[in-house]
Amino acid sequence: MPSPLTFTKRATSFAKGFVRDPFTHWPFPVISRRVYGNLSGFRQNLYGSIDTSLHRFAGRSHHAGTYDADTLSQAKALREHGVAKMSGWIDPTTVETIRTSVLAAAETGGRNPSEYMTLLESHAFAEHTPEVFDIFNPRVTQFLEHYFGGPFLVNSGSFRLTRHVPPDVLKQGEVYSDRWHTDSGPTSMLAIFVLLSDLGLDGGPTSALDIPATKDVVRQGYASRKETGQMTAQIENNPARVEMTGPAGTIMFVNVARCLHRAGIPSEGKYREWLQFRLFPCRDATDTTRLRPAKILKYTNRIDQDY
Ligand SMILES: [Fe+2]
Repeated sequence: MPSPLTFTKRATSFAKGFVRDPFTHWPFPVISRRVYGNLSGFRQNLYGSIDTSLHRFAGRSHHAGTYDADTLSQAKALREHGVAKMSGWIDPTTVETIRTSVLAAAETGGRNPSEYMTLLESHAFAEHTPEVFDIFNPRVTQFLEHYFGGPFLVNSGSFRLTRHVPPDVLKQGEVYSDRWHTDSGPTSMLAIFVLLSDLGLDGGPTSALDIPATKDVVRQGYASRKETGQMTAQIENNPARVEMTGPAGTIMFVNVARCLHRAGIPSEGKYREWLQFRLFPCRDATDTTRLRPAKILKYTNRIDQDY
């Protein structure tokens, strides 16, 4: 049993932490998992839903290009499910040009956080490989504006080449977000993943569960990427699971704060080449040729961007 002094110290430390940042302390994480059904945190959900609603309201007079019933219903489905996969939306020649450019850029401006991954952060895109922004063609942009209900911005991203990781290394710990998790960003954020070469199940695709399936699993008790066993097996075998396989140019749209997801591990000798971007709704016109700051990150993640 802790001594009265230890108890007092712990209580004081909890009280100080609670006053400084109440939403990250008990009971908010528990309430958040129960109410919102994801692991992103109370603040990310509350502020994210306000951000989403305000921008949809402000954008109601915004016209996202030519009216297209199919695009509208696909965007509506993405709002409900939080996951969508589209192939054939980017011209193969464009994908190949981007791939050649980004691989060269990764050689000069990239880094290897481990022997299993080569990484090029988005701040290097403008200088070394501006072609990556060409994935935002009119079809992709129109779909995204329908999803956000108005204009959007490209906040960050990266190119990643992920390689096989031996099982004994994986047992020791996570190597590159390969365990089921939701990102701790605001729920108004949308991630998009773009394959730069054809990818099958043996290439270690990203997998995701949609919003309803994620809510089920989290409300049943899945609380952390550290968990193993029955809950993880349930996610692995969930019929709602979407695999990001497909031909080069396939795009997967994921609300990564609301949908459980994980990176796959390529089989021996295989690898995966892919781009990812983080998008947010905004008030100004959509400009997909450069990165722009997302003000909400100041309030949800204490990140003050000045570019
Ligand atoms: Fe993630």
